Amino acid sequence: MAPFEARLGTPGSPTALRVLLLGSGELGKEVIMALQRFGVEVIAVDRYPQAPGQQVAHRAHVVTMTDKEALRAIIEKERPHIIVPEIEAIATDLLVELEAAGRVRVTPTARAAQLTMNREGIRRLAAEELGLPTSPYQFADSVEELERATQKVGFPCLVKPVMSSSGKGQSVLRGPQDIASAWNIAKQGARVDGTRIIVEGFIDFEYEITLLTVRARGADGKISTHFCEPIGHRQVDGDYVESWQPQPMPEGALDRARQIALQVTNSLGGQGIFGVELFVSGDQVWFSEVSPRPHDTGLVTLTTQRQSEFELHARALLGLPVDTTLIAPGASSVIYGGVEAQGIGFDGVAAALSEPGTDVRLFGKPESFVKRRMGVALAQDRTIDEARAKALRVSNAVKVRTS
Ligand SMILES: Nc1ncnc2c1ncn2[C@@H]1O[C@H](COP(=O)(O)OP(=O)(O)O)[C@@H](O)[C@H]1O
Ligand SMILES: [Mg+2]
Repeated sequence: MAPFEARLGTPGSPTALRVLLLGSGELGKEVIMALQRFGVEVIAVDRYPQAPGQQVAHRAHVVTMTDKEALRAIIEKERPHIIVPEIEAIATDLLVELEAAGRVRVTPTARAAQLTMNREGIRRLAAEELGLPTSPYQFADSVEELERATQKVGFPCLVKPVMSSSGKGQSVLRGPQDIASAWNIAKQGARVDGTRIIVEGFIDFEYEITLLTVRARGADGKISTHFCEPIGHRQVDGDYVESWQPQPMPEGALDRARQIALQVTNSLGGQGIFGVELFVSGDQVWFSEVSPRPHDTGLVTLTTQRQSEFELHARALLGLPVDTTLIAPGASSVIYGGVEAQGIGFDGVAAALSEPGTDVRLFGKPESFVKRRMGVALAQDRTIDEARAKALRVSNAVKVRTS
């Protein structure tokens, strides 16, 4: 496909360029705001009303995005020029169908959305077609198959539903005694019933990174690939709690990481940003997974880069040039709800921001859960360690109020 350059216009007029987001959470909200700055008409779709991105879009729809016909009705009504998937759980076969019929562009491609919504699709592409290093793995459809799979992969290993995200349904198996409970955890955490699981050998990595990789149209009209500085992050129960950029890495490992990211993103194609998740030990790098969209750990780029990952995504999908320059080391620290309540308030924000080089984003989610991400603290400093400590001070200083 030839590189695409959008025809920008005026929202609500015959020249309007219409972009429809499938998923309008905190990451989508930032992408929408970046698109709004280019005068794009934005339609935000999510499974619940008043999702963060819907609050800053021209129009909003509430629908179950795995419901193919319900989604089709919205797309036919809105007639977007471009669809931007922001989550994995979408009826991606509809996107493949509409893209093939030339009805709409999908960011980066419908195939990328389809392959990455299922761990099996992307793992087979990376390991079997591209020959990239990954953890050893097996797939299983029953507890008996899981038992055989653990014999091949060995302990310790991880079990994950092939359709799941944010650590849901995942568990670590230390020995055969953990097989039955792992199967039950996977069944409960899966996005759809009767799901397959993947059994992955446990990689004892030194650190893990997100390598944000952008495929964008350059001034010469050709697609080129740009890399952001690597982002380090810490996960608790499969959910990111803090991230920082740049993650220091030996030159050899960084080269290898970029080669892997280049191969995966070349294969997925299209225009947009990708979050390539990699495990690193010394000069050894393993591919883990990839999001064909901004990555939650990349929220840190709101403070560290000249163009955040959201601006990079917006520019790339519109066919505009991108700049992945890092301005300063920085960190992000998640602000959790900590309570189950509707319409929470936030105290202590002014005090938190009194420290220079800090910022916050409060996402505006209508309902708080104990472990729901309600905001993020951001900090810049001279070193990573100072930035991490500062971001943590900011996230701790912001207090949730329930009345
Ligand atoms: N094979 C593995 N070995 C060691 N740690 C792993 C492995 N797979 C996942 N993890 C840990 O679990 C986290 C979440 O796993 P991931 O596959 O990225 O799931 P999700 O799609 O929910 O983000 C990873 O960021 C990493 O910290
Ligand atoms: Mg992940």
